[in-house]
Amino acid sequence: MIFKGLQEDIDAFMARDPAARSRWEVLLCYPGLHALIYYRLSHKLWKRRWRLVGRFLSHVAKLLTQIEIHPGAEIGRRLVIDHGTGVVIGETSVIGDDVTLYHAVTLGGIAPSVDSTAQIGQKRHPTVEDGAIIGSGAQVLGPITVGVGARVGANAVVTKDVPPGVTAVGIPARVAMPRDREKAKEFVAYGTPVDGPPDPLVATIHNLREQLRGMAARIEDLEQRRQEQEQDDMGQGSVPRFSARNS
Ligand SMILES: CC(C)(COP(=O)(O)OP(=O)(O)OC[C@H]1O[C@@H](n2cnc3c(N)ncnc32)[C@H](O)[C@@H]1OP(=O)(O)O)[C@@H](O)C(=O)NCCC(=O)NCCS
Repeated sequence: MIFKGLQEDIDAFMARDPAARSRWEVLLCYPGLHALIYYRLSHKLWKRRWRLVGRFLSHVAKLLTQIEIHPGAEIGRRLVIDHGTGVVIGETSVIGDDVTLYHAVTLGGIAPSVDSTAQIGQKRHPTVEDGAIIGSGAQVLGPITVGVGARVGANAVVTKDVPPGVTAVGIPARVAMPRDREKAKEFVAYGTPVDGPPDPLVATIHNLREQLRGMAARIEDLEQRRQEQEQDDMGQGSVPRFSARNS
């Protein structure tokens, strides 16, 4: 059900934003939560191949919240988009559980080829793993991975993988050493349970899980395309075929 996770989404805002004083306040006044509700609905429409309706709904959400989430993006549980204005989450982005994004963050695509049609269905946007925090104004670009529990500083431009548990800052982003571990822990109050790099085994399991999720989605998409192609071919009275362009 579409509102099944609403309670835990609200709780996540309560836990990570010290300014949130009540659940009603979060429900009524947080565009990040509103954008997430719209996204959950538009994503369901997208998966059912009601793609124009899904896109239109996300467009309405953008007008209302100033947050643009493509309905094709995969988003896990308890995402918090704090403030939110200017956030853009691209079509092939994958976001794990308990991720926090501040305003003006872009999870953007890069163009590996000048032929834009060749990029259809290709992974072009980042994967942000569980518990990561992306600071305001950060631009995370391309099919890279921000690892479990990693932090990206405000206004960073990230074009390469960020390993689990580290902090990346600057343009281009580099790994930063926190001057003061206690100060670094203050940011934990905003939702990052980082206290040194996570167990490498846990990080590997998360990576494998993400890869499996990506492959399952790809297989489902290919299967749907094949069925559509067969239906089109039968409608035209020709022998069914599967176009290599769509594979
Ligand atoms: C990245 C961040 C989490 C680092 O916090 P931290 O672990 O406490 O790190 P420190 O403050 O000790 O800084 C470590 C180094 O990174 C640098 N640094 C920190 N944040 C930076 C940033 N956004 N851009 C560039 N450099 C940055 C510091 O100058 C320091 O460099 P130095 O060692 O050469 O002096 C924090 O600075 C940040 O940007 N948070 C985002 C917060 C945000 O977006 N808030 C929005 C709320 S509305």
